[in-house]
Formats: sequence, C-alpha cells, structure tokens
Amino acid sequence: MMAFIPRVFSGIKPSGDLHLGNYLGAIRRFVPLQQTHETIYCVVDMHAITVWQEPEDLRRWTYEIAAAYIASGLDPKKSIIFNQSQVVEHAELGWIFNCVARVGWMMRMTQFKDKAGGEGGENSEAVSLGLFAYPSLMAADILLYKATGVPVGDDQKQHLELTRDIAKKFNHDFRKQIKGLGFDEDYFPLTDTLVTGPATRVMSLKDGKKKMSKSDASDMSTIYMMDDADTISKKIKRATTDPESLPTEAAGLEGRAEAANLVAIYASLADQSVDQVLAEFGGSGWGKFKPALADLAVSVLSPIAGEMRRLVGDRAEMDKILRDGADRARAIAIPHMDEIRQIVGFVR
Ligand code: TRP
Repeated sequence: MMAFIPRVFSGIKPSGDLHLGNYLGAIRRFVPLQQTHETIYCVVDMHAITVWQEPEDLRRWTYEIAAAYIASGLDPKKSIIFNQSQVVEHAELGWIFNCVARVGWMMRMTQFKDKAGGEGGENSEAVSLGLFAYPSLMAADILLYKATGVPVGDDQKQHLELTRDIAKKFNHDFRKQIKGLGFDEDYFPLTDTLVTGPATRVMSLKDGKKKMSKSDASDMSTIYMMDDADTISKKIKRATTDPESLPTEAAGLEGRAEAANLVAIYASLADQSVDQVLAEFGGSGWGKFKPALADLAVSVLSPIAGEMRRLVGDRAEMDKILRDGADRARAIAIPHMDEIRQIVGFVR
C-alpha cells in the first residue's frame, strides 16, 4: 500500500518587496515541510491585482518571490513552485466558489473591512469587486489540489475558516452528485491551518505593536530580504528599544513589545527558543545584543539575497522553473476540475 502523504498549499502575493516578516513568518516555515508533505508553493499574482499593481512591478515581484522560495531552500524538483495565473483552473474554481459562498460571509472578513475602510466599509465603493471575492479565490487555490494543510500566519486564519465553510457547503449542496461519482465521503477536505514552530509575527523595528510591513512610512522599520549587509546592520542597531537590559526568562519580556520582537527575531533566525536566547543574553544590554542580532541576520539573509539576485537575473531559468511547476500543478488540478464540472452539472 502506498503511504498517504498529506498535501500542503501556500502562497504569497507579489505586491511589494519581500521583508523579514515574509521570510520568518512564511517562507522559512515552508522549507522543512518538504520532508514530510507534498508541497505546493504558489506566487498568487491573481490575488495581487485585487488592488492596482503596475504591470512591470507585478512581474518583477513575481520573479522575486519565486527566487526567494528557491534561495531559501525550496527545491523546485521537490516542491511545486509556480505562479497562479499560469494555472487557469484557479479562476474557474474561484468562480464556482463565488456561487457557493454567501455575500454575508465575505462581509465579515476583517481583512476586507480593514481595506474597504471602517467597520461598515464606507469605502467599499472604491475597492475592486475582486478584493471582496478574494477569500473565495483563496479557497479555490487550496481546494483545487484538495490540500489538507496550509502554513499561514494568524492573520489568515479567518480566510481558512471560510475555506472550510465553502468546502462544507459544496459537499452538502452537491451530496447526491458527489455520491453519484462514486465518492462515499465528502468531495473536498476540511483544510487546517498548519502551525509549525513558535508563531512568528515579526513586528516593526520602530514600533513593537505594529506588524512589520512593506507599506510602513519609515524605511528603518522594515528589513527587506534584498537589503545589503550594511543596511541590515544599520536598521537593527537603530531599532527602537527600552533602556532596560534583557531579562533572563521569557516572562520578563511582557509589556516590552520592542524587546520581545528583537528576541523573537533572534530566536527564529537561530532556530532556538526564546528561553534559549535569554539563557545566553539575559542580563546583557542592547550594546551586546544588537550587534549579535545584526551579525546573525546578515549571516542568514545575505547568502539568500545573493542567490535571489542571481536567480532574478536569469529569467530564462526562472521561466523554465515556473512553467514546469505550473505543468505539475495542472496535472493535479485538471482531473479534479473535470470531476467538479461533472458534479456541478456542466456539459463537458
Ligand atoms: N491571502 C494570503 C495572504 O494575504 C495569500 C494567499 C492567497 C494564500 N491564496 C492562498 C495563502 C492560499 C495560503 C493559501 O497572505
């Protein structure tokens, strides 16, 4: 008997330069899953255009994310790496899910409410229809492959719940047809969030209560994956901190958002626990900790940035990798889509 290998799917939007939050919160966690799961990692370009993207930037960022995946240790032979728009079935299933999901479900999505402005979404006339339907396309990304696990951060948990709601409703509404096709169980699995290691939510270097983001007004608050060594060091050394020295235990970081953030970054980059880091640095001041963190960050990120530069400079090679990934993705997607068309009642 063949062993069952669970399938995971995840994606990153090409809508800005990659930063440390993307790396520690997502990409770095994708890598070890290659040993235990069948892994599909997508550059979700169709999600990116839910807000305006300059076409040239979109293309550049798409290559950049694919390069970051590979430079960080994803093996394009092992993992399926591709950009979403090359597998048209995402759009097709996304449409079907638009007809399964309810408007009320979408209205409850906090990410949409944030982007559409205000609780009541006062600004919703100004945002694209695609932004509203975004979670239903995300459900299609995952369920097109019947993926059972999705490694994502906390901010995506609500979208994962909605993915399960869509799967449940589809399984329920089409129960008879699903049985008729010979399935004695549900057609779509109920996908779980995959949590690997301590949850890393990387915060701004200037405000420990704000998420690190590409849209921060201050360039000093965000470390980009393509930053050079000097820039990384400078940003860490100028990061906002409190005047106290580091505590000897994790509990001592409570109420010290900036300190907690820098220690968590160190722990993630070193593959250590917060307690291990504090066992080494507890009692030290920032004058000792920051240079150590800067050295560590540079030693991890610089080789990745170097490899990313090499890869994005070789578009022919990148195109080959993305095309091959899309072919392998479609080999899984096409038979599923064929069944889904039958289930829904489309003449084929
Ligand atoms: N919504 C995710 C984000 O903003 C990106 C995404 C799109 C995604 N489709 C996905 C993540 C499918 C995981 C699985 O970060």
